[in-house]
Amino acid sequence: MKTIFDKTKIKKMEFKNRIIRSAIWEGFSDEKGYVTENLIEFYKKLAVGGVGTIITGFTSIVDYDRPAHNMISAYDDSFIPGLQKLTKTVHENGANIVLQIVVGGSQGSPGISKKIVGPSVHINPVTKLEAQELSKEDIKKLVEKFAEAAQRAKEANFDAVQLHGAHGYLISQFINPFFNKREDEYGGSIENRSRFLFEVYAEVRKKVGDFPIFIKVNCEDFMDGGATTDDMMWVCKKLSEEGIDLIEVSGGNATSRKYEGVIRTRIDGPEKEAYFKEFALKISDIISTPISLIGGHRTLENIEEVLNKGNIEYISMARPLLREPDLIEKWKLESDKTSKCISCNKCFGPKGSICIFL
Ligand SMILES: Cc1cc2nc3c(=O)[nH]c(=O)nc-3n(C[C@H](O)[C@H](O)[C@H](O)COP(=O)(O)O)c2cc1C
Repeated sequence: MKTIFDKTKIKKMEFKNRIIRSAIWEGFSDEKGYVTENLIEFYKKLAVGGVGTIITGFTSIVDYDRPAHNMISAYDDSFIPGLQKLTKTVHENGANIVLQIVVGGSQGSPGISKKIVGPSVHINPVTKLEAQELSKEDIKKLVEKFAEAAQRAKEANFDAVQLHGAHGYLISQFINPFFNKREDEYGGSIENRSRFLFEVYAEVRKKVGDFPIFIKVNCEDFMDGGATTDDMMWVCKKLSEEGIDLIEVSGGNATSRKYEGVIRTRIDGPEKEAYFKEFALKISDIISTPISLIGGHRTLENIEEVLNKGNIEYISMARPLLREPDLIEKWKLESDKTSKCISCNKCFGPKGSICIFL
């Protein structure tokens, strides 16, 4: 019988419990993305609060692409000392920390990115940003940039790096035929649409060796013309065969919001919790790589049911740990094992970031 307090291991990385704080863009870096004292204080609170592993907010890996203001950057070596300070503080307070890396493409905030790139020319239906199609030469350069950022994560003493392959950002856009209309080897079949992802993964692996590499992926895009569950099962199986260390299963993107969104509201009953559970269980049936399931976990009872149903090893949580950064410590000590998060999404503060919580 699995419990959230089990100790586990992936390669040499030790997990003191099965709860992972999923990535949350916090908006506490400075304008360029350098680590600030506020950012360190925010992550320290989480570490002290008992979560075993923290995934940072998405981190920019090229200077022209910033899907959100005041996000962390790792696009050159000048960011390493700040990131080292961050990892040191989190480690001193007993948690692991993983750097999530991203290229946002057309799913960004207007006026922040200097150049908008995509698999094909398109106007993003939500942001209205217009993407220019990446040439094969540009794709090669971006693949390198992912690998360089992963190497910086290693140098800054993160415990792992996570590729953001979900939620409609660039890797996910390549996989999604609504955004990817290419007719070359990067478009068409699922093998072709996932080629960019697998090139990124291979280059990152080449650069960082045995260092743990995680990925966040969609179980499906939940939109007309998007990637299907079958597509994503194919991708997860191949990721597993190629040696990815952990797959975090999510779903949807900004365009799919009115159907089945990434960050669902009104999780007010047990049947609405763990909203990607059925998909993750299907994926877990065909791979042996550890899976972490994100989306709508609110009670310990349901979490432990999910852990014991199939091959899901970790539980990711985002909003509940904004509401109560010490939730896991509380669950150790108190009899009430319910999160106070009501999924209202007011954690998106006035500027989009979560400044109301410090
Ligand atoms: C304020 C905020 C910022 C987020 N930023 C990111 C991010 O940077 N990267 C990411 O993969 N997901 C991001 N997410 C999505 C969460 O990681 C998670 O997938 C989603 O909130 C559902 O999980 P929950 O029900 O535990 O909140 C963000 C969510 C919120 C509320």
